[in-house]
Order: sequence, then C-alpha cells, then structure tokens
Amino acid sequence: MPDAVFRHEEDELTLPAYVGTEGEIGVDIGNLRASLGVVTVDRGFANTAEGASSVSYINGEEGILRYRGYPIEQLAEQASFLEVAYLLQYGELPTIAELGAYEDAITQHTLLREDVKHLFEAFPHSAHPMQILASATSALATYYPDALDPLDVEAVDISSRRLIAKTPTMIAWSYKYGVHQPYVYPDNDLDYASSFLRMMFAVPAEDYVADPVVTRTLNMLLILHADHGQNCSASAVRLVGSGQANIFSSVAAGIHALSGPLHGGANQSVLEMLTRIVESGDQIETVIKKAKDKDDPFRLMGFGHRIYKNFDPRAQILKKAAEDVLTALGVDDPLLDLAMELEGIALSDEYFVERKLYPNVDFYSGIIYRAMGFPTDMFTVLFAMGRLPGWISQWRELSADPDTKIFRPRQLYTGSPERSFVPRQDR
Ligand code: SDX
Repeated sequence: MPDAVFRHEEDELTLPAYVGTEGEIGVDIGNLRASLGVVTVDRGFANTAEGASSVSYINGEEGILRYRGYPIEQLAEQASFLEVAYLLQYGELPTIAELGAYEDAITQHTLLREDVKHLFEAFPHSAHPMQILASATSALATYYPDALDPLDVEAVDISSRRLIAKTPTMIAWSYKYGVHQPYVYPDNDLDYASSFLRMMFAVPAEDYVADPVVTRTLNMLLILHADHGQNCSASAVRLVGSGQANIFSSVAAGIHALSGPLHGGANQSVLEMLTRIVESGDQIETVIKKAKDKDDPFRLMGFGHRIYKNFDPRAQILKKAAEDVLTALGVDDPLLDLAMELEGIALSDEYFVERKLYPNVDFYSGIIYRAMGFPTDMFTVLFAMGRLPGWISQWRELSADPDTKIFRPRQLYTGSPERSFVPRQDR
C-alpha cells in the first residue's frame, strides 16, 4: 500500500498506510505529533480508527454487515444466538459438539447469587432497567474476585460465560422487581431465549410455555444486535478495558453508553415518538417538518446512522419481520402502519435523501418487542442482551492484542492563557 504524505506549511511527513480485508485504507498518524508537533481533530471519531478489528465488517455505503465474515442475513435466518456468541468470541462457527459444550457451560452459570436480590431492592421500583442492569453487572465483579485478570485466558473465559449466562436473569429480575412480581428462576432445560421469556412472563401461580413465534423472533433480534464494530458502547467497553479494568466494569460502561437516546435508547424513543404522534393527532408532515427544523432539537428517532448511508441491513430484516411477527401473533398495531408511512414520506423528502438518512436498527425493533409483550422501558436492555457477546468479543480482542495502548486522546486547548490567582477580596 503506497504511503501517505502529510504536508503542513513547509513540513512534510511520510505516513505508513495499511489496507483492510475489504480494501479499506488506514493511514497511521502515530508519529505525527512527535515529528511535526501537530495533532488531528476528528469530532466523534467519524474518520478515525483506533486500531484494527476482525470481529465485524460494516460497509455503510452498500448496507453490508458481517460477523466474522458471515452475512447478517444468513446468521439471522439460520443460527442460534449462542452459536453467534461463540462465533463472535472465538472467530469460527462451532461444531455441533463445540456448541453443545458451550450451551452446557452457559447453563451452569444462569443463577445469580441470592444476595443480588438486595441490590435490586435498593432501587425504587420505578428504576429504569438499564440503570439496574449496569449496577448489577458491575456488582458481578465483587462476587468473582479470582476471575478478573484480563490477561488470564481462563478467567476471561469463565467471566464471559457468567456474563452471557446471568444477563438474561438480571434483566428478567429487574422487570419482575419493577412490576412487584416474584422472581422466576432460570430453567436450564430450555434454550436461551425460551428460558429468558419464562423468567420474564411466567408467574408461580400458572404454567408458562413461550410462544415459539416469540422465541424464534427473540433469537433473531438478539443476533441482529450482537455486534456492530466500533459503535459508541463498544468503544466505551474498549476504552475502559484499555486501562486493564475487568470485563464486568468494562461491560457496565458499555451498558451506560448504550442507554443514551442517540444510541441504544433510540428503540425506546422511537415507540415514544410514534405514540406521541398518535396521541397528539399531529400529521406526519408536521413531524417531518420538526425533524428538519435546525432550531428544533427534535430528531426523527430511529433514522440516520454514522456509518450506514444506505439501508441498515438490520432494519431491512426487522421491517419484514415486524409484519410477519405481528400477523403470526394476531397483533394489529397501528404504530407499525404509522412507522411504515413515516419511512415512506421521509425517504422521499429531499432533507433525508440529501443527508442519506435511512431507518436504522432501532426504527422497527420496538414495534416487534411491543408485540412480543415487552414494556417500552425494557427495549434497551433487550438491545444490551443482544449486544453483550459483541462487547465481550471487542474487549477480548483488545485485551489479547499485544499492541493495545491505553486510550488517551489528545485535545486542542482553547481555554484561557496563563493568568495569576486573584485574592477573594480583590475579585
Ligand atoms: C444505534 O454506531 C452504531 O453502529 C450504532 C448502532 C449499533 O448497532 O451499535 O447502529 C445502534 O445507535 C443506531 C442509531 C440510533 N439513534 C437514533 O435513531 C437517533 C436519531 N439519529 C441521530 O441522532 C443520528 O442520525 C445519529 C446519532 C444516529 C448519527 O449521528 P451523526 O452521524 O453524528 O450525524 P449528524 O448528527 O452529524 O447528522 C448529519 C445531519 C445533520 O444535519 P446537518 O447539520 O447536516 O444539516 O443529519 C441530520 C443532522 O441534523 N440528522 C437528522 C437525524 N439524524 C441526523 N435529522 C433529523 N432526524 C434524524 N434522525
């Protein structure tokens, strides 16, 4: 790959360039400041790669997403979520024996220590499940002090399995605590999605069997959310992990990052936006006008993406799934019709077309979650449950990389020049 040349005034520096698997080009500016005394500025890191990764490949211009080289469309259609969790972490699809052993290993860790209930009960019943999940995930580090070393492969393996095994239990219990119902324990005879649905919706007074349509749909939703390269929350997990913080603390940071409405919190915001439109009686044209108004902070939630300047392939799958699932469940949700109408109008509006704003993964997912019986404030923790193996894989890749450096970006200081302290009486 031909090197790049950086010129500034009379200075010139040759910078090595690298090429990725799919032909992407990366210019290494590692020597820039030492050689020329300048730093680059890139708000939101829109043009900056911290390093290389082999977990996911995203082509935003063509709407491509692959996990370890496998197209998301094939995985969503044919794989199980634990199969994808294995693929993301170990780089290869498991054999039947490997998958069986992995599933068995996960089921050995689905229970939470009974003490964790006291943590839940420290929260108000109205607490948002994302706040509870982040706190409970951090708390797990206190129960397993012997398995926190990020450089100990055995410790990382068992901590990764504990996280994947216990997160559904923590999420279901946060819901049960919120609705004042008794906790339901995991059932290790059920598959991952079915056991979670049972913990969510079963009550001790009655038998519960998850609807196979809901189980299959949840499995697909978890796969579609499983990883997405260096998104905001994965970058948070990597940044915290770069200081050699343990995996529980690093993932808790990712959960907090995901909770923002510009990131994973958007799936909840989309439903709230659609519901507001119906309740206010606003015409769609009014909503689109607000979204385009620079002076109005309102944005069309579930639209736009830093990377996808074409359809988000996940949104494509979810749009079709929404119709199929609601039909299969006999749910007639006017919000789905409204979402589709909103998409159609937005995609023919110059403002959205010019800015390449398409529906993203969050635009339709909430409508499906709602049809499956989940309350709106559970949508983002469901995103977190799906993204967990991606966060773990990104963290493991960073921790295992001998070239990893602690994340410590530079800044351009624009504050006050040096000045002397002024005694209080003289201010
Ligand atoms: C996720 O990174 C990932 O991979 C994330 C994710 C994952 O899997 O991890 O894909 C999951 O977070 C999806 C995104 C969910 N968020 C939303 O749906 C919130 C609404 N969308 C936006 O706020 C926005 O599109 C972002 C945050 C998603 C992307 O923001 P960018 O890349 O910083 O783009 P920008 O804010 O610079 O917008 C560019 C232009 C601006 O207008 P101009 O200044 O050029 O005139 O597009 C406009 C923005 O005002 N714009 C929107 C808009 N999104 C961008 N205008 C109205 N409605 C929107 N939704």
